[in-house]
This record gives sequence, C-alpha cells and structure tokens, in this order.
Amino acid sequence: MYNKKTIEDVAVEGKKVLVRCDFNVPLKDGKITSDKRIVEALPTIKYLLSHGAKVILCSHMGKPKGEVNPKYSLAPVAARLSELLGKEVVLTKDIIGEDAKAKAAALKAGDAILLENVRFDAREEKNDPAFSKELASLAELYVNDAFGTAHRAHASTAGVAAYLPAVCGYLIQKEIGIMGKALSNPERPFVAILGGAKVSDKLNVINNLLGKVDTLIIGGGMAYTFLAAKGYGVGKSLLDESKIDYCRDMMKKAEEKGVKLLLPVDTTVAAGFPDPIDAPIDVSVVPSDKIPADKEGLDIGTKTMELYADAVKNAKTVVWNGPMGVFENPTLAKGTISVAKALAESSATTIVGGGDSAAACEQLGFADKITHISTGGGASLEFLEGLVLPGIACLEDK
Ligand code: 3PG
Repeated sequence: MYNKKTIEDVAVEGKKVLVRCDFNVPLKDGKITSDKRIVEALPTIKYLLSHGAKVILCSHMGKPKGEVNPKYSLAPVAARLSELLGKEVVLTKDIIGEDAKAKAAALKAGDAILLENVRFDAREEKNDPAFSKELASLAELYVNDAFGTAHRAHASTAGVAAYLPAVCGYLIQKEIGIMGKALSNPERPFVAILGGAKVSDKLNVINNLLGKVDTLIIGGGMAYTFLAAKGYGVGKSLLDESKIDYCRDMMKKAEEKGVKLLLPVDTTVAAGFPDPIDAPIDVSVVPSDKIPADKEGLDIGTKTMELYADAVKNAKTVVWNGPMGVFENPTLAKGTISVAKALAESSATTIVGGGDSAAACEQLGFADKITHISTGGGASLEFLEGLVLPGIACLEDK
C-alpha cells in the first residue's frame, strides 16, 4: 500500500535531520513504566548518528492542550534515551524558541538533541503551517518514525513535510511492512481477533477485515451486541442497541463472503462489574444463549477459550486487537491470557495491534514470542480499517 523512501534512500551525512518519534510513553510518578516506544525508535536514531547526521528529535507527550506543563515534559525521555544510546541527548527548553534554535545550530555530526513536547504549542495539533515552517527551519531533512502518531495530521507528524524532503524511519517501515503484508497479501488461513468494550470503536475495522480474513473472532464487551443480534438475551452485559442492526449486517456479510465469524459460545458472568476493577469477584460460566437476566458477561468462557485457541492453531497469519474481558481483574483476565498464549504458541505470523492487547502480551512475558507488537494504538486500528495515515501519506514515494 505504501512504498515510501526511507533514511537509506537519502544522504544524511553532515545534515541536520528533524526526526519525529512517538515518545508518548506511559509514566507513573514521573517514571517511565514501559520504554518500548523509545527502544523501538533506536534503530533509526543509531543509523542517523552513525552516518554523521545532526539529529533533532521531537515528540509529543500526553495531552497538555497547547500549554507548557512540566507534568508533560519530555525530560524522563531524554534521560532514558541518553542511557540507551550511551551518550547525552540534551532536552531543549523550548520547541522552536531561542534555546532550540541555538542548540540545533550548534549540533555536531553524530550528536542528538530532543526538542521539548511539541504539544506545548497549540499550533502543533492545529497543523499550523507557520509552526510547521519554523520547525522545518531547524533542519534540512525530515524523518517520520512516529508510527503511533501517524494517524494524526499535526504539524510535526505531517505539516512539516511540506517544507523539507521527507522520508520514513525504520519503525514506520517495519510497522507498515508487516501489517501491510498481512492486509494485502496474507499467508492463509488469516484469522483476526477483535475485542474491546465497544462495537462502535471497531465498526470500520470489522467491515474492512471481513473483506480480507478467513476467520473473524469476536470477544470482549462488543461480543454482547453480536449475541443480541442473534436474538440472545445478554442480561446486564454491555450492549449497544443502536449497533444491533450493524452486527446483523456484518453477520450477513460474513456469510456472503464465506468468512467464519466466531462468537463466544459460553460466557463468564458475575453479578456486576468489579469495583474497584481488580476486586475479588464471584463468577460462573454459562452458555452464551443462557446469560441470566441479572448477570453481566465480563469475559469469554472456557469452551470459547478452546474454540478461539483452535482457530489460532490452524492459522498462518493472526492479527489481534482488543482484550476478551476485563483483563485488569485477575479472575476476568483468563480469556485475554488464553488468546495471548495461543498467539505465543503459534508458528503463524502473529501481529498484535497496540493498546491493551499489546500491554497484556508484554505483562505476560509473551512479547518475544509474537512476530510483531505494534507501537500504535489508534494508529494501528486506523491501519486495520484501511485508512490512509497522514503521517505516512506525506512522505516521499520511492
Ligand atoms: C498514542 O499513544 O496512541 C499516540 O501517542 C497518539 O496519542 P494521542 O491519542 O494523544 O494523539
């Protein structure tokens, strides 16, 4: 789908290179709890440094809404990057102010600086051309490697490409290479597993994948709207009545296309949602067409776990996005764990599309048994929807 120039297609030696990364890493009490996005950006940064570029890194962090807020400073990222690279990456005090300009101008070949959070300026998210132009004026080449932010048309993710030669880094190349192949030319059988709370978040993903997969597996909160569309009572389970017709249409589309659509055959139910979310909870497993009126479905059941694991066993390509139940609760995490385990044990090309399912694989220690865990949450979903990502579309074609 995309055939974009990469850092290897352009001269970088002695050049000032503006590199957009997605360093929007999770923080707790000011400490980074997962440095995956920083680690995944290293191949591009190391290539540029070792090829004599003067590297100006930039990223957003959180949603500071256009205001300078120390809570969202990239200082912890600069510190972690310096550790990982074994050389100091200085954080500038501003984005396109005096400090950034002076530090960018003084850069030596093989050195890197990090600009402060681009979202400290409201013009970033507005994709303001004047802001893009000023950012561009710091450098001679633009490299986008922020896959996780590639679905945003912001100044540093897209706008800047209007003012500089623009290519992609290794992370974007890897993400679109692996996921692009799965979507355009998958080894079959191709199985997609979709979970998460709401059908409305995945409408276009379901529709797009139904045109590509051999089997579509549905779990998580959104499964109940599908069960309701089959005419089952779902008790107190999450239900989006406005999407029942849509689910019916999707079931019909699956049938017409000869796609196997798997829904939970049994369901783990409880009296209500756990509060707090990780509180001990009494559960039972019931057939999916016999969910009692006073119970809430909160995870797939044991038979469903086997059914889904079997479907994965026979697949050659598997894409997974979204948990099967309330995985923050140990009793209700079993469905999500069973899917993560099935992927880890499979010899297929396995792709986990960011967000909660990625976190689940990492927490369970399965990360190195999965072919590819995307660094994108929203971005990987939009990619699965078949949408054009502005942060990639703006780059030069080969
Ligand atoms: C993400 O975490 O999904 C990306 O960094 C994008 O962040 P955003 O949703 O705040 O644009």
